[in-house]
Amino acid sequence: MSEISSYLRSLERSRDSMRPEHRPRVFALRGRDWDLLEGVFAPLHAGTTEIVLDLLGLFDAGAAGRGGSFLEMGCGTGVVAVTAALAGYEEVVATDINAQAVANAALNARRHGVDDRVLTVHSDLFRELPAGQRFDTIVWSSPYVRAPEGYRFGVDLERAYVDPGYAAHRRYLAEAPHRVTDGGRALLHFSSRGDMEGLHRIADETGRRLEVHRKHAVLDRGEVIEHYLIGILPGESA
Ligand SMILES: C[S@@+](CC[C@H](N)C(=O)[O-])C[C@H]1O[C@@H](n2cnc3c(N)ncnc32)[C@H](O)[C@@H]1O
Repeated sequence: MSEISSYLRSLERSRDSMRPEHRPRVFALRGRDWDLLEGVFAPLHAGTTEIVLDLLGLFDAGAAGRGGSFLEMGCGTGVVAVTAALAGYEEVVATDINAQAVANAALNARRHGVDDRVLTVHSDLFRELPAGQRFDTIVWSSPYVRAPEGYRFGVDLERAYVDPGYAAHRRYLAEAPHRVTDGGRALLHFSSRGDMEGLHRIADETGRRLEVHRKHAVLDRGEVIEHYLIGILPGESA
């Protein structure tokens, strides 16, 4: 699919997700109830949040009792961050560029009694996080469809679906490895609906190496879509 048709289709999906029938105020996912605020990425409509939970193994045997720190970049409703806290991560940060998403994640942290362990931060990627702060796990379930470089967002929700010129992906690839502890993991959830070749080009340009840790194929409206959990590593010369 060409870049144009693919990003227009993603924007169509973002508009579709705003329809009231796709926005229950509370939704159930993996046996838990979650709040959904206006203008925030709707996990049930998109289906990707659940894939991320699985790719991260947050429901695997042995997930409980896991410790350490966890950053969910682009947290949306905060399902992943809150599930990480419930699975045993002791220090969780949930950030988003969309202020409504930050409020939504805080609401869900309170709903599940982990607001003492989940800090919510309104931030463009790492910008508002203290310079030296590092995490054992960082993950961004990104808006992996590339929009043309000059595209201007209409509403914040579109930021959950497309990234103009992959400018945010470029910044994430450059910075995430600097934000992990020794032995920590900088991760990106991406899919075959994104431009994998373009992502690899950006990795080369930013001195990064990409390593697919896990894959998961789903049938999405009649199309097989591969989802990837990708590790971002310093390249050979970095
Ligand atoms: C695909 S959604 C994933 C939401 C949530 N993690 C989930 O799995 O349900 C991508 C999220 O990234 C956020 N985002 C996009 N650009 C961002 C940026 N520059 N800084 C922080 N968050 C950003 C969007 O607002 C959106 O909430």
